[in-house]
Formats: sequence, structure tokens, C-alpha cells
Amino acid sequence: MFVCSEIHNPVMLAEVLGALSPRTGCCYADGTIGAGGHSKALLGASTPKGFLYGCDRDSAAVQIASERLAEFAGRFEFRVSSFAELASWLGPDRCEGVLLDLGISSVQLNQADRGFSFLVNGPLDMRMDRRQSLTAASIVNEAPAAELARIFWEYGGERQSRKLANAIDRERKRTPFETTLQLASLVERVVPRHGQRIHPATRVFQALRIEANDELGQLKKGLDSAWTILKPGGRLAVITFHSLEVRAVKAFGRNLARDYTMEGETDIPELRRPKDPELKWVNSKAVVPTPVEVEENPRARSAQLRVMEKL
Ligand SMILES: C[S@@+](CC[C@H](N)C(=O)[O-])C[C@H]1O[C@@H](n2cnc3c(N)ncnc32)[C@H](O)[C@@H]1O
Repeated sequence: MFVCSEIHNPVMLAEVLGALSPRTGCCYADGTIGAGGHSKALLGASTPKGFLYGCDRDSAAVQIASERLAEFAGRFEFRVSSFAELASWLGPDRCEGVLLDLGISSVQLNQADRGFSFLVNGPLDMRMDRRQSLTAASIVNEAPAAELARIFWEYGGERQSRKLANAIDRERKRTPFETTLQLASLVERVVPRHGQRIHPATRVFQALRIEANDELGQLKKGLDSAWTILKPGGRLAVITFHSLEVRAVKAFGRNLARDYTMEGETDIPELRRPKDPELKWVNSKAVVPTPVEVEENPRARSAQLRVMEKL
């Protein structure tokens, strides 16, 4: 059972609705249902006959959202799956709008037994999909030290990545890591705070979460899949929280927005063939939350919304 304080506040809700402008009789997909905040608003705004397909890798999220959206029964279909599977589920040209709101929800973060938070003790788990065998603990206890350093540096931007990986390697030979606080306290000992506002374990936990869930691999597949299910004229809205997610979304958009007829002489056959752009950016710059939203929901502070239209 979950309580109200654990419910996730949907980020940039008004901006998402503005971008997708849900209408009755149209079809939408939410690839990251979470606690169902955006889903609820999409269904409400497309009353009485809008339909929403939704998925989440986390079965608990699908259950919570289905219960919260009971008033819309008959107008949505949810399933436990990655957004990378949207195209194989729904097929091409199906929806007027698709939303991907990346990362984890406050519900997941606040539940100690999911192991996402370094502030509460729980198993070092971090799986969004609890059917998979790879956990944060298996990475921390089994990955070679050089691989751990790469993960901390690439996905967390942790400057002391090697020092930290070596300290973990020494410690795990004595006592394998099992809990979130065990890892957080080692990080605190090895990487002192030096007056920084953020907890030193923030970067390490983020990096392990990205690795454990293959978030960047899933995102690349998910963008292709979401694009496939969009009808021409439909819009894809993506909310990112991390610079590597931003990079993947920009690269995806740039590639499809490219007008190959503009290419100069080239020996590459694909570039010689005239090809019109498939995508138009709805806003040239990312939309960010208002200061009021960040004040009310600090989790929104690094959010960026990008919206693309299928031509
Ligand atoms: C930021 S929350 C979404 C919150 C949601 N928009 C709301 O209003 O409550 C992100 C959700 O996406 C899910 N998720 C992350 N990666 C996913 C993927 N590849 N496929 C499906 N769901 C994913 C997470 O399990 C989490 O529930």
C-alpha cells in the first residue's frame, strides 16, 4: 500500500499537455507510466474518447497507476514492458502523441526495498524490472575495478572514479556489498564532501542505476520505437534528467531532421539519394520547469523537455 506523500508529481505537466494537445478520438502512448500523473492528465484532456496505451518496466508502477486511473477504465491499456517494445506492441502509425518521462519516480526512490536511495537503508537492488537478474549489488560485487571506474566516470561524472573503484574492490574482498547504506558510507569515507551541497554518493548511485537498467541502450531503442508508432503529424515529447539522455535525444532528432538533399557530392549512396527530413523540432531549445515548479518539486530541477513532430 502506498501513501499520498509517496506519489510522484508529474514534471512540466502543463508544458507536456501544451506540446501534445490531447484531443478526443485520438490515441496516445505513455512509455513511462510511473505513478500515472501524466497518463491521468492525457486521459482527462482527451475526454470523452481519447485512448491511452501505457507501459512501464516496473510492475508495481503499472499496478499503482492502473488503480489510480480506475475512473478512466475502458480508455486505457497498460502493460509491464520497456518502451523499447512499443513498436512491436502497437505497430506503425498508431498514435497522435507519445511521452517518455525518463529516470525513476519518487515512488521508486522513496521505497527503501527498491534500493535506489542512499538516504535509507535497503538492499542494493536498483532494478526497475525486478524480473531481471542484474542488480546494483551484482555490479558492485562482481564487475572488475576498471569497469566500475568507467561506470562511475561515464554515467556519474565522478572525478574520483578510480580511487572509489579500488576502495570498493578492497572492501568487497572482506565483506560483499549488500545494502545501500553500506555503499553510501564507503563513498562518504573515500570521497569527502568538501563543502559540496550534494551527497558524495549521488553520482555513484546514479551511475549504478543507469548501468543496472541499461538506461542509455533502452533510450536509443525507445526513441526509434516511439517514432515508429507515431502517425505523421504526431508528436514525441521526451523529458530528460541527465546530460547523456540529452545527448541521445538530440542525436536522434538531428539525424531525422537532416535534409539529405542538402548534402554535397559524396560517395556514400545513402547520402546521394535525395531524402526529405522526417522530423521537425517543435521548439528549437529545451523547455525547462518554471522556478515555481522547481521550488515546489526540487526533483524537477534538471528536467528538460524536447518535442519533435513527425513529418
Ligand atoms: C519519472 S518516472 C515517470 C513518472 C510519470 N510520468 C508520472 O507522471 O507519474 C519514470 C518511470 O519510467 C519507468 N521507466 C524507465 N525506463 C523505462 C523503460 N525503458 N521502459 C519503460 N519504463 C521505463 C520507470 O520505472 C519509472 O516508473
